[in-house]
Amino acid sequence: MRVLTIIPTYNELESLPKTLGRLRAAVPASDVLVVDDNSPDGTGQLADSIAAEDSQVHVLHRKGKEGLGAAYIAGFKWGMAAGYDVLVEMDADGSHQPEQLPLLLDAINDGADLAMGSRWVPGGGTVNWPLYRQAISRTGSTYARLMLGLKIKDITGGYRAFRRSTLEALKLDQVESVGYGFQVDLAWRVAKLGLKIVERPITFVERELGASKMSGNIVVEAMINVTKWGLASRWAALTGKKTQVSK
Ligand code: GDD
Ligand code: MN
Repeated sequence: MRVLTIIPTYNELESLPKTLGRLRAAVPASDVLVVDDNSPDGTGQLADSIAAEDSQVHVLHRKGKEGLGAAYIAGFKWGMAAGYDVLVEMDADGSHQPEQLPLLLDAINDGADLAMGSRWVPGGGTVNWPLYRQAISRTGSTYARLMLGLKIKDITGGYRAFRRSTLEALKLDQVESVGYGFQVDLAWRVAKLGLKIVERPITFVERELGASKMSGNIVVEAMINVTKWGLASRWAALTGKKTQVSK
């Protein structure tokens, strides 16, 4: 199984080297792709210098900040073109502990099409995450779960492993959401295809360096989209039409 861990970055100069070092030590078999959106702080150049020393580290430079979703889609396409079997999503700031990656890879080995790190299942949790962020995450997840009729407990979580065939089955070019919305969007698309989604408990550790890029707009976008998708799928069920659920 060839594994590629994709790490999107925007101004992660302090965090990235630590996270890369931990990942290379914890799962040496995984190659890494840093997807940098032309960070003003020079994260992209730093990633290049690390890649120059380590043939398993690659860097994809994008022209500007286009959001987490666009960065991941570019990374997935790069990884699929390069022939990887498993594509992993991981934040650069250490919140997704590289030491826990084997939990997700084991789930894929056991047959999952999408393995999701989950803060909101028994054994999972957060460290130093502000209460308001926990509240947004729990409330957002519960709302999405009820609205979309999914069983996933941590639907906005961004620590995931996709089997390549799962990404091939998704129409990545149709995914427009950014931020949390992107994570919900992908999980919803995988669920609609009837593929096997498995959650594994993770401990999300709040970043020690740098700042979050999440914003109120991202939360609002996600809530609006979830509402639209939920209503559209209920409407389709009611009218018996096989309506293509879209945004
Ligand atoms: N290339 C690129 N472009 N990277 C980005 C962008 C962007 O526009 N926006 C954010 N990132 C990168 C950050 O540099 C970091 O590596 C990762 O995406 C996560 O961003 P954070 O800003 O640290 O997110 P968070 O800690 O607030 O949010 C976490 O929780 C969310 C809710 O569960 C993440 O795990 C999210 O993925 C998750 O949806
Ligand atoms: Mn973070």
